Amino acid sequence: MDALVVTGGRRLTGEVKASGAKNAALPIMAASILADEPLVLKGVPDLADIRTMGRLLGKLGVSVERKRGGTMVLASPSRSKRNRAPYEIMRTMRAGICVLGPLLARRGKAEVSLPGGCAIGDRPVDLHLKGLRALGARLEVEHGYIVGSCRRLRGGEMYLGGPFGSSVTGTANILMASVLADGTTVIDCAACEPEVQDLARVLEKMGARIAGIGSPRLVVEGVDRLGGCEHTVIPDRIEAGTFLVAGAATHGDVTVDGARWDDLFALVNTLREVGADVERQDGTIRISARHRLRSIDVTTLPFPGFPTDLQAQMMAALTTADGISVVTEKIFPDRFMHVAELGRMGARIRKQANAAVVHGTEHLSGAPVMASDLRASAALVIAALAARGTTTISRLYHLDRGYEHLEKKLRRLGAKVRRVNIKG
Ligand code: UD1
Repeated sequence: MDALVVTGGRRLTGEVKASGAKNAALPIMAASILADEPLVLKGVPDLADIRTMGRLLGKLGVSVERKRGGTMVLASPSRSKRNRAPYEIMRTMRAGICVLGPLLARRGKAEVSLPGGCAIGDRPVDLHLKGLRALGARLEVEHGYIVGSCRRLRGGEMYLGGPFGSSVTGTANILMASVLADGTTVIDCAACEPEVQDLARVLEKMGARIAGIGSPRLVVEGVDRLGGCEHTVIPDRIEAGTFLVAGAATHGDVTVDGARWDDLFALVNTLREVGADVERQDGTIRISARHRLRSIDVTTLPFPGFPTDLQAQMMAALTTADGISVVTEKIFPDRFMHVAELGRMGARIRKQANAAVVHGTEHLSGAPVMASDLRASAALVIAALAARGTTTISRLYHLDRGYEHLEKKLRRLGAKVRRVNIKG
């Protein structure tokens, strides 16, 4: 099993480039099922989740060809009847659910395993089902599978808000189903995340008619067919944000190339409030933090609020801030697996319902820790970079799901990190 060994206490300095966004690429790959012609994607990161989605689409008859330099060509056969997304693949990656809408829209049938459990808490799919039913699909959950069928989907009106706000992959799923439906679809309380916007732009390039992209109300005029297109996936705001937070936590000076200001503004604002200088310079964001960070209250919210996918990383930075911070999680109330592991490094954090109270301590100390999920792992890396001494982070496969060439990028910023293979 791979582990990351980090010797902390060095300021990160220099420039690093954000890869293409995994969470944009995954639903866009699923959109290939909808098209009569090939989809050429550029900037697709080489990550475990992307390979898993490739395998899933392969099972559904889509040819997935990876070329050099992050280009991927996907082509769906026009008359394929394959419609089963098996548990063996779905249990490892939640985004697999994004094939449900396209399968129903294009092939009229789908058997998609419910995605596996996840360390960040409950992840229901009721909003996906509600939206697809509003488009006329018949859906049942049987033996762990969502079994759906329909004739041509028809436009419908729906409210997609749940107890924790909008759903990112839910919106993606319904949007992909609605573009080939007969008539007009209105999706209210749609997710506005940049990854959903990127998907909508690809669908437009393929011939879909979508109004309100980036707003919580999407209006779709269904079309009879979609063609192929070429598209470059947006840079990964969560990866970029992780490097910015790492820069702040190590009192460094880090420039992230490809980081999009508008996509990261909530984080920029938070980093400024903790005392870092954050500037925008032609397609890059630069952070420099010379002094100990100040404490702050952070609450995660749907976009454009502070992203839940950066909550753990920000908490890691706050463990050594001056004063008491409160981090409140409003998207996934149980997403605090990192708290105990940060505690092993000397962090003083008390969890209370959906919040964590962080008492800033002068410094963390390196320790053996275990990654529990993707973003919690990134938080442990940040803590390790800032800590005194050596930290060994095991269960690295979580990180490999979402961060391309992480060690290489960190080393370029002056970090002392290496990957080792350990037993266990
Ligand atoms: C996506 C991201 C994930 C991110 C999350 C929130 C991908 C592949 N993953 O996950 O990294 O953390 O958005 O920004 O893009 N919910 C329901 N019913 C549903 C669906 C969701 O109640 O049918 C709830 C969830 O439990 C959660 C909230 O809505 O509390 C938001 O979840 P959602 O936006 O759907 O997350 P994902 O799309 O799974």
